[in-house]
Amino acid sequence: MKSLMQILGVLLLTIALSKGKTFERCELAKVMKGQGLDGYKGYSLANWVCTAFYESSFNTQSKNFNPGDNSTDYGILQINSRWWCNDYKTPGAHNACNIDCSAFLSDDISESVNCAKRVVRDPKGMNAWVGWRNHCKGTDLSKWIKGCGLDY
Ligand SMILES: *[C@@H]1O[C@H](CO)[C@@H](O)[C@H](O)[C@H]1NC(C)=O
Repeated sequence: MKSLMQILGVLLLTIALSKGKTFERCELAKVMKGQGLDGYKGYSLANWVCTAFYESSFNTQSKNFNPGDNSTDYGILQINSRWWCNDYKTPGAHNACNIDCSAFLSDDISESVNCAKRVVRDPKGMNAWVGWRNHCKGTDLSKWIKGCGLDY
């Protein structure tokens, strides 16, 4: 018979493995700034924090299937498997960031940020993100970095 400690151990391990990371707003702002997103292609840091909120609620494990084209969006910035990464199941995918989509689900957001820089270099810029277009574009974005010690 298994000991209570063994059962508890398995339980805790399961929780640890399935948890993922959900950022606090200011924590994400600082990490994004450190990774060079503030002002990248002319988009202030607040644009990126706002977009991450509406795309993933700051959850690195966010994963959403798009029935329209059978693609999936991955991670904190919901990067799409039709154009940017490989998830081995999206028909006609391009993998322009040359990376496995699962890399965007990591607690470390640097791969998401790297690919997002590639995405935003396209002519439509941040319009690539529906969350940005519908909720961030043209709004007062100051609240997204307010109180983070990053105001300017
Ligand atoms: C999506 O997948 C379904 C089920 O495999 C298929 O019937 C449909 O044609 C696919 N649509 C596209 C746009 O690939």
